[in-house]
Amino acid sequence: MTTDAELSRIGISLPRPLLEKFDEILNMRGYSSRSEGIRDAIRSYITHYQWMSDVRGERQGVITMVYDHDQRGLLQTLTEIQHEYAGIIQASLHSHVTTIKCLEIILVRGDAAQLKSIAERLMSQKGVEAVKLTTIPIEA
Ligand code: NI
Repeated sequence: MTTDAELSRIGISLPRPLLEKFDEILNMRGYSSRSEGIRDAIRSYITHYQWMSDVRGERQGVITMVYDHDQRGLLQTLTEIQHEYAGIIQASLHSHVTTIKCLEIILVRGDAAQLKSIAERLMSQKGVEAVKLTTIPIEA
């Protein structure tokens, strides 16, 4: 997509495996350049964030999280965060995906702002690969 918008150049540092994985997906999807792929990834990040920000009111939901269990201190941090929100977290299910990768599903219920806050806290931890929050409104 070509627009008249002025382009800004940025330089970023990425871990090699992350970049290799990204390039692999760009190849599979037939992207002509890495820049185009990065622009799409940023748009998709913004859409995802805005979608999360639109969630309001009392909600029931699920947080799905994938993380590297070898990351130093991560397990303890994730547990501490979940204990801080003990009033909102109803249950969690842990699956050991591989020797190093864990999948955790957390059942949550409460005010949307707090559900988003938990999801964002979890997402910002080093070693957490992905966090997805899915919610439904609680009908009165
Ligand atoms: Ni595990």
